[in-house]
Amino acid sequence: MSIKTAAIIYGGKSTEHEVSIRSARNIAKAIDSNQFNTVLIAISKSGKWFLKTQDELNHENVVVESSTQLVLIPGAIQEQIITLSDQKSIGNIDVVFPIVHGTGGEDGSLQGLLKTMNIAFVGPGVIGSALCIDKEVTKRILNEAGIANSAFSSFLKAERHLINFETIKVKLGVPMYIKPPNLGSSVGISKVTTEAEFYQAIDLALQFDRKVLIEQNIVGREIECAVMGNGDAKASPVGEVVTNQDSHAFYDYSAKYTDSNGSVTVIPAELDAATQDKIREIAIRTYKALCCEGMSRVDVFLTPNGDIYVNEVNTLPGFTDISMYPKLWGAAGISYSAVISQLLQLALDRHEEENEVKTTF
Ligand SMILES: Nc1ncnc2c1ncn2[C@@H]1O[C@H](COP(=O)(O)OP(=O)(O)O)[C@@H](O)[C@H]1O
Ligand SMILES: [Mg+2]
Repeated sequence: MSIKTAAIIYGGKSTEHEVSIRSARNIAKAIDSNQFNTVLIAISKSGKWFLKTQDELNHENVVVESSTQLVLIPGAIQEQIITLSDQKSIGNIDVVFPIVHGTGGEDGSLQGLLKTMNIAFVGPGVIGSALCIDKEVTKRILNEAGIANSAFSSFLKAERHLINFETIKVKLGVPMYIKPPNLGSSVGISKVTTEAEFYQAIDLALQFDRKVLIEQNIVGREIECAVMGNGDAKASPVGEVVTNQDSHAFYDYSAKYTDSNGSVTVIPAELDAATQDKIREIAIRTYKALCCEGMSRVDVFLTPNGDIYVNEVNTLPGFTDISMYPKLWGAAGISYSAVISQLLQLALDRHEEENEVKTTF
């Protein structure tokens, strides 16, 4: 088998820029060099693209703009990316691992760009990415598919004057969760009970998004399931996130990334086999309903009486040291490196299938 070239694209104009760099480091380390050469492409916080070395990836916590800015050439069949300064090709790219979390990376826009450039890429395509980035749209599709999720209301920024605490309290009860629906890593999310907290949380969420999502509180354990595949999606063993409730009201940013005592992950989750199977089955139904391909991580709540509510779907889940997605496959006996190889291969397979679709008749 000939060695292919995989580009890791990371960073991005997103609140998860730093998390993306940590994911990219692990992916670069785990890529099987017998199968893939690696090229590193970083997107700065202002949205410019740069060619990077392994050393730069290892040492930059924020993407530094350098002299190696890149230019894309739509329509080129090969060598689609050149350097701006001397217009030299960075070589042929067979497949991209876009590990740009959140806005601009996980929302279908980067996927659309890569599709336009005719480059294979890991993770869901334009439609799956776009459906899952917006938690309110995700919920509408889940409801249409008959998959349980929390009751909710949502408003555009332009409808801010219509938001009324008492009315929403009657519908959803307290406490409730207020979120910017297009973000991740718990940024801009609040758990509120009082009227004053409610309006403050609405304004906070609207600083990060043009829409606000208000959800009923689901009391339950937080269980995550990794799904992989194109037409034949498979679900991993499930894992649990246990947040330290003495120091965190919920699984917030610091419990995820900065407080080492904020949360622990339990893999596999301590659950009976029937419940695990039920969660895996719901994860696959969710993945299919939302047009996911390649990979996604499906997060659910498991209530004390055994009901399962889907919380959200992450189409480019984290690959940091503490991240669940690769660890869940590890519990199934698949190494970190094999997970990366399989994801790159799924991307190549889908691309080949897409290019077989007729574009003239
Ligand atoms: N409706 C809800 N009921 C109970 N807890 C919730 C609810 N929504 C969010 N949470 C808590 O907030 C965390 C972050 O919310 P989530 O929607 O998963 O956003 P993110 O995409 O930022 O991870 C969840 O892991 C959970 O701890
Ligand atoms: Mg989450």
